[in-house]
Amino acid sequence: MEAKWESERVRELVPSATIDLGDRIKRLRASGHDVLNLISGAPEFDTPTEIKREAHAAIDEDYRYMTYSLSAGLEDLRRVIADKLRGENGIDADPEHLIVTVGTKEGIALATQACLDPGDEVLLLTPGWVTYDALVRLAGAEPVSVPLRTGGGPMLTGDDLAARITSRTRAILLNTPHNPTGRVLGEAELDVIAGAARRHDLLVLADETLEYLVYTNARHRSIATLPGMAERTLTFNGFSKAFSMAGWRVGYVHGTPPLVANMLKVHQHLVTCANVVAQRAATVALGAPEGGGTGIRAGIRAGLGERRDLVAHALDAIPGIRCPVPEAGLFCFPDIAGTGMDDREFADFCLDEARVAVLPGSAFGAGGEDHVRIAFGRRSTVALREGVERIRAALAARAEAAGRGEPRAAH
Ligand SMILES: Cc1ncc(COP(=O)(O)O)c(C=O)c1O
Repeated sequence: MEAKWESERVRELVPSATIDLGDRIKRLRASGHDVLNLISGAPEFDTPTEIKREAHAAIDEDYRYMTYSLSAGLEDLRRVIADKLRGENGIDADPEHLIVTVGTKEGIALATQACLDPGDEVLLLTPGWVTYDALVRLAGAEPVSVPLRTGGGPMLTGDDLAARITSRTRAILLNTPHNPTGRVLGEAELDVIAGAARRHDLLVLADETLEYLVYTNARHRSIATLPGMAERTLTFNGFSKAFSMAGWRVGYVHGTPPLVANMLKVHQHLVTCANVVAQRAATVALGAPEGGGTGIRAGIRAGLGERRDLVAHALDAIPGIRCPVPEAGLFCFPDIAGTGMDDREFADFCLDEARVAVLPGSAFGAGGEDHVRIAFGRRSTVALREGVERIRAALAARAEAAGRGEPRAAH
């Protein structure tokens, strides 16, 4: 049913592919089908006990955690975040130049609302997280896609950016480690982005939320640390992925005082502050030692790394699928062109014939075609193995039917 009261901004928003697929999964399950869901963007692990204990303590302790915190966030949390940004990222961070947000997502929304005007253009590296496009549009600005090269070499050249910069370009949004490709942007790619930003006086929005989920020796580098970038970069991060705290909704943004002051105005009117019990839990999460394999981050990363290997190798062994092992993140992003299907056909085939839900790469924007995104953050390795096996078996049956000259399965 059409909404009677509907803004133009919302009318133009495309519903997220995840939501659409979620509805199809629900319908299939309701009619008795066993569907394996490999689309979730968060690890399906329990939040570590140390973090939960801190939340219990906050609830039991006193009223301070039952009321609003400072809008910018608890001072203790902002202090440990600033220490982390200084110590680990080399960003000259100050607790006063930080806002604790309702997940990384709210931080990016604050930036698009506080920094963009209608008609402004924002360069989005695609394929990319679908929310960027929506948040830029909600601010009345226009997303401009810069397709990344997913072949294996550098993902981006200076010419790729230069070809899309106009007098209306206001900002570049980048995400490293990168969802959905699982790549960590290297020095060369960061230099290209920083060079264009300095040359054209652009704001850079850097989403680093997958920072702790790097499984190789690829080095995550914050673009804010490159020459001339601190004054034009907003750095976003959060606790959802590395600490398995997606439902707690805590993130943060760091930037220059004038930008942060403007974002704080939006934050105050929109949400007042992030959940205060969750803020205290996040304080202990970030303060916990990494510790050789026993630290809480290391534990979650090791569990995910094991699942990454399992899924990537099993997918790569399927005829028609080429799956590089992702350096980082929560997803495999295999090239499925060798199956003779495009990415939407392949995702439909997986759901209809294998009862496995995966997302078509083109849902993440230009450059994602011929790929699908397969999440490996499921708690159960048995379910992951089974998911890939179902895809293999369905493809084998399809190839066999084609060999007998039978029509392809409808999808
Ligand atoms: C690249 C990226 N940024 C941000 C988010 C959202 O994170 P949060 O839960 O902190 O809002 C996600 C979640 O999937 C993501 O993949």
